[in-house]
Amino acid sequence: MVIVIGGAGYVGSHVCKYLGRAGVRVEVIDNLSTGNRSSVLGKRLHVIDILNRRDLDSFFKENAADIDVVMHFAAKSLVSESIDDPAVYYRNNVDGVLNVLDAMHKNNINNFVFSSTAATFGEPEYLPIDENHSQKPINPYGRSKLMVEEVLKDYSSAYGINSVSLRYFNACGADPENEIGEMHDPETHLLPLILQAASGRRSDICVFGRDYDTPDGTCIRDYVHVMDLYQAHEAAMRELITSKKKGAFSYNLGNGSGFSVQEVIDVARKVVAEDNKTIKVIDKPRRCGDPARLVADSTIAKQELRWIPRFAELEVIIRHAWAWEKKVAGL
Ligand code: UFG
Repeated sequence: MVIVIGGAGYVGSHVCKYLGRAGVRVEVIDNLSTGNRSSVLGKRLHVIDILNRRDLDSFFKENAADIDVVMHFAAKSLVSESIDDPAVYYRNNVDGVLNVLDAMHKNNINNFVFSSTAATFGEPEYLPIDENHSQKPINPYGRSKLMVEEVLKDYSSAYGINSVSLRYFNACGADPENEIGEMHDPETHLLPLILQAASGRRSDICVFGRDYDTPDGTCIRDYVHVMDLYQAHEAAMRELITSKKKGAFSYNLGNGSGFSVQEVIDVARKVVAEDNKTIKVIDKPRRCGDPARLVADSTIAKQELRWIPRFAELEVIIRHAWAWEKKVAGL
């Protein structure tokens, strides 16, 4: 059995749905602080907060014999919020994970898949960013995730907990069957905001900065489909279960091609035009802490996990996200 902590959230819910589809027994732990009960899609849900050590310990003690792998998605993940309130980030993203790892260790559960982030790298020194790139995060969110990556190395050598940390670049898209999708509140991510401007759930989209050192002046990011993130988690799980992976491993997950904010808006405009929708854009100054370019080199994930992104095209990503936005907006 796989325990998915944070399985009611955006990436976690897609992983749960499709692991279940692949025949894997999945149960969810979530405190429902940002996740949605409706995204769990019939999987068994245990409403437990990872900061509640007692509840977590008793869950793991009761279920230890059945648990093969723990996947951890339950994180606070907004960069600006992490700068304003770092305590919440270190408490949840570090302390909370330590509670999980300690409960695993006590109960002899040794396989862990961890959601990490491009934010562990900070300002890029070269592109695309591979696993050898230095990790100098520039905000508490990135630091909280890097701390856990370091903890995992020590827990591997001392306690034999094997782990795979998957560093997502810009997660986006939605379930191609349109049952689940991105549902953050508040929403801060570019693509869902663009599509909300198209559906009428908001009046416009702000472009934060047109004076970056990029061809059109807007920031470049590597957008990776949530279904491809699912594939990477499944591959990591299989490597751990078959004991091919012993140690603490980290992989960068992106498509290796960067798109500017303006390019994302242009492709979205083309997609929503098929439904006679338009997108109003307002130019704003730079948002604090945004690097000009972030693009992943995922060669190692492709080689070692045999990860093959199937939805790498930006237009496909946007089409799936638009189908979901139309459903949420009742169009
Ligand atoms: N952007 C806008 N307008 C908006 C929202 C975003 O122009 O309304 C721009 C941002 O300035 C940035 C790009 O769109 O250049 C993407 O922004 P997102 O907020 O969608 O994503 P980020 O790249 O800031 O964040 C992502 C992940 C974080 C992770 C970070 C690593 O969502 O979890 O990459 O740097 F920390």
